[in-house]
Order: sequence, then structure tokens, then C-alpha cells
Amino acid sequence: MESPAFLTESAYSHIDRAPEPMKCVQRMDEIGAGKFWGSIKSQMLELLEVNLGDRIVDIGCGAGNDSLVVAGLVGKHGRVVGIDFSNTMIAEANKRAKGLGLPVEYHFGDAQNLPFPDNNFDGCRAERLLQHLDNPQRAIAEMVRVAKPGAHVVAAEPDYGSITIKGSKPILTRKFVSSHCGYFRSPRIGMLIPLLFERLQLVDINVVVISSIVKKIGDRGEKQLINKYINLAVAKGMVSETEGKSWLEDLKRAEIAGRFQHQTTIFLVSGRKPN
Ligand SMILES: C[S@@+](CC[C@H](N)C(=O)[O-])C[C@H]1O[C@@H](n2cnc3c(N)ncnc32)[C@H](O)[C@@H]1O
Repeated sequence: MESPAFLTESAYSHIDRAPEPMKCVQRMDEIGAGKFWGSIKSQMLELLEVNLGDRIVDIGCGAGNDSLVVAGLVGKHGRVVGIDFSNTMIAEANKRAKGLGLPVEYHFGDAQNLPFPDNNFDGCRAERLLQHLDNPQRAIAEMVRVAKPGAHVVAAEPDYGSITIKGSKPILTRKFVSSHCGYFRSPRIGMLIPLLFERLQLVDINVVVISSIVKKIGDRGEKQLINKYINLAVAKGMVSETEGKSWLEDLKRAEIAGRFQHQTTIFLVSGRKPN
């Protein structure tokens, strides 16, 4: 049984205090190995435009899998630095990198206050990090600060506020979406990134809007996710248990009728620090 705080707030904001931090590592591995996020990771890599000898920072690196991929591209004169606010993640990342001989290092640190001088990296990436921060604006400003002139800054984040779940109870559904938003510190950051990049005067801003669309409740952990929506909203007192059951039944009927659809929008945004 999850403790009440972890039932109502995502563990990714403070993994080391979670009852089972290694579950977060496993979950990230599962998601990263899937086709949907695999394709986003490949697109992020392309947008970073990594060259031999580059220094790249991966902020909110988790168990470091993406940093390892980038480290395979920078060559022996390059360097990849992974930063994460969880000692569990940093320890796991170090374990995975050990013996590979790649130019990579991992450090505990806060994205909102990066331990690097200005103009230090040829590229910065952050994936599914900003949603977990109190001050994602500050983290983006930090990414831009540590990027060298000409460097690419790339971020990918969902916009939980625009989620749609199609059944025949739209008003009840909004309550579940709204309670789900409250689970994250910055649930709408995805759609704000382009504006924040502009304000920080990045150039060549490119925005890719990607939809995750699930049409079967049994698909890709969908059943688990729908149950999570219900448990969360009930725990917060935003709906009753009866409403939770009736919502689930309605979604199942919609699925049988071919009308169920759960859509989440991801913003993949890149920009370049001006020379
Ligand atoms: C959802 S995971 C994503 C991990 C990785 N980027 C990936 O795509 O697999 C979010 C990560 O952000 C880290 N994180 C949360 N708050 C942070 C902060 N203030 N500074 C740096 N990392 C943070 C978490 O510890 C976690 O590893």
C-alpha cells in the first residue's frame, strides 16, 4: 500500500523518499523501452545534433540510459554529464555505466540550480523532468545559461491539462483529469515550453506536438492508469467511490462500442542559444 503522500503526488519529484525507489527505475525502463517514448528519444537525439568532442548535459537523467546513448556519439574527447535529484537514480546510472568505457559521468543535483558555469555545454536535453519541478521556468533558464552560444536545448514534456478520455460522462471525466493534473507539480509545462524558449531568446525554435492515443483499456498499462486516475480522485475526495466505479463501467462500455479513446499530448521542443 502506497503511503498517502505518494498516492496524491508523483514520486518522481522526490524518488529517494518513496517507499520503493527502485520501482521508479523499473517504470522508467519500461516506458523508455516502449515504441512511443523510444521514438521521442530518437527525435530528441536528432535535434541535439551531437558532434564528436561535444560536451552534453542530460538533466533529470534518471538511470542514465539516454546519457549512455549520447556518450556513444561524442567520442573519447567528448563528455556527457547526467544530473538527477535522486541518489537512487545516480547510483543506478553509475552501475549501468561501469565498465563500458564511455565518456559519461553522473552527479546528484537540482535542475533549478545547476552546478555548472555559464556557456559550458554544446547541447542540453531534459525529458519528462520539468513536470516534476516547482519552478520549471527556472530550470529552463538554467539549461539556457549553461548552454554555449550555438548549442541546442531540447525538452520533451506532456501537457496533462489537455488530456481527453472519451466515454459518455464528460463532466465526470474532467474531474478525473483535473485530479490527475494535481498529481504533478507542473502539469501544463509541455505547452508552455515554446513560449519560455522564446522569452529566453532562443532561436530556430522547433515544436513537435505528439499525441499518445490509446483505444483499448487493456493496452500498454492503460488499465493500471485508469485505476490510478480513480484511486487518486477518490483519495483527494474529488469523486466518490461510486462515481469511480460508474466512470470505469462507462469507459468499458465505450471500449466495447469502439468509442473509448485516451489522448495525451507531448510537446517536443528544441531551440538554439544565439551565437
Ligand atoms: C520521469 S523521470 C525521467 C528520467 C529520464 N529523463 C528518462 O526519460 O528516463 C524524472 C526524473 O527527474 C528527476 N528529477 C526530479 N526532480 C529533479 C530536480 N529538481 N533536479 C533534477 N532532477 C530531478 C527524477 O529524480 C527522475 O529521475
